[in-house]
Amino acid sequence: MKLWPRIRRRDEGKDTLHYQMNNQRGKTMTDFEPKVMIFCCNWCLSAGTNPAGNLPKAKTKMIRTMCSGNVDPSFIVKAFATGVDGVMLTVCHPGDCHYLSGNYQAMRRLMLLQDMLQQLGIEPERLRMEWLSTNEGPKLQSVVNGFIGKIAELGPVH
Ligand code: FES
Repeated sequence: MKLWPRIRRRDEGKDTLHYQMNNQRGKTMTDFEPKVMIFCCNWCLSAGTNPAGNLPKAKTKMIRTMCSGNVDPSFIVKAFATGVDGVMLTVCHPGDCHYLSGNYQAMRRLMLLQDMLQQLGIEPERLRMEWLSTNEGPKLQSVVNGFIGKIAELGPVH
């Protein structure tokens, strides 16, 4: 008998991130498909860029923000708490942030979050930041591929 019956969330369908994350548990390492969340600054992406488009092996969620400074640390913590294996932030190059210092704020938060993740037993490499600009589409693609490869090596978050 379960003391705490699982309460089904009203919005829980097969297409929700929550559903996808929970159904990954119990899979072996060979079945492992990294679940990666990418917070992309709007100004790092050229029109029509979809770095996740050619990545069938990984479950990639891209969230476009107006500035990396808008990414609240709780979003990242919640991502890991719901079963995401890696989180990446793409931010404008130093001096290029459209809102002056959002990229520096994101960098400081990321360093603190990496320390916190380590305290929780989660490898800090699972959280990564990359400086990018609009004209670096191919770099974005390779950076995301490299990150997914790294997460695949690390395996699922335990
Ligand atoms: S506008 Fe891109 S990091 Fe601020």
